[in-house]
Amino acid sequence: MYKLLFQQLRQISRTATKQVRPTAALATTQNNSEEKIDVTKALEGWDEKLRLSEVGDIEFNLKCIVAKVLNRKFNTLNTYHNVQFNREQLKEFERLCEARCARMPLQHIVGEWDFMDITLKTAPTVFIPRPETEEFVSKVISVYRNVMEPVDMLEVGCGSGAMSLAILHALPNVKSTAVERSKAATALAWENAKRLNLQDRFKVYNHTTAENDYLPKELEGRKFDLIISNPPYVKTEEFALLQPEVKLYENLNALDGGPDGLRIARLVFDCGCLHLKPGGKMWMELGSDHPQLVQTIMDTQYEGRLRFVKGYKDQYKRNRFVELEKV
Ligand SMILES: C[S@@+](CC[C@H](N)C(=O)[O-])C[C@H]1O[C@@H](n2cnc3c(N)ncnc32)[C@H](O)[C@@H]1O
Repeated sequence: MYKLLFQQLRQISRTATKQVRPTAALATTQNNSEEKIDVTKALEGWDEKLRLSEVGDIEFNLKCIVAKVLNRKFNTLNTYHNVQFNREQLKEFERLCEARCARMPLQHIVGEWDFMDITLKTAPTVFIPRPETEEFVSKVISVYRNVMEPVDMLEVGCGSGAMSLAILHALPNVKSTAVERSKAATALAWENAKRLNLQDRFKVYNHTTAENDYLPKELEGRKFDLIISNPPYVKTEEFALLQPEVKLYENLNALDGGPDGLRIARLVFDCGCLHLKPGGKMWMELGSDHPQLVQTIMDTQYEGRLRFVKGYKDQYKRNRFVELEKV
């Protein structure tokens, strides 16, 4: 599979490199470092190059890249009228557009991304939070908004920290302990917590949850009110269907859920059996054919330990989220 991915990456880079030559805008400024160039001129040709590279929503992509180069938020850039680049900015713009033609995710190009009400820094190899995860987190927040007591939450596989930090941002009575197998993601989650001033209610451990080694030693015996997780749940056979942005730039450990997509989810279930208080809840984001399977797994393999409470649909009416309870 890695060989296949590598070949695809090489092909995309070759295609993009072939298409990307200095644009008219760069050519006209080559001898004059003081010269300013209208953004509308700099944009010429990129629409077509991005289209040939099969990038979607080109207008939005270009707007985000222009805003990044100008060090502005994309939603403050309402018009390109009278907006200009200097020569360095123009070069940077062309470099970032080339990266997008090679299907580098926009979130990595821009370096930060809004997730619900918070802005998260992104980093190469760390999973980019997805819109459906915002739906999942909104659901959890809506349920826990009515809980007045302190909520001690655990997250397995926190990535950039998106889910935990959005919940902490919305609910002051929650504190979160997270574990994450990737060192880069662990560092990024902590950095995001500090940027958002949530570090007092957030702790993250670099730990790989495994059978009989669910949490780091420091957390031995800890019981939580709530466990959340968006574990890797892509079935191995589905990898070929993923977009290049995902296949080529995301860490496979963040995606690969094994043959039925539930390899890591099962570890999280077992973790819940040990580390949830009686009556404590587990909320998970999974693939669309998982909730029914999880219900069967709970009924047949976790009876007396975990109970399937409910499955929830996303905005596209796909079953995606499950709520379980520690018996
Ligand atoms: C699908 S990503 C979700 C990240 C984040 N929660 C989000 O929603 O954006 C899954 C995350 O779980 C981490 N992970 C995978 N297997 C793990 C394991 N056995 N123990 C801890 N973390 C794991 C991955 O590194 C990745 O960051």
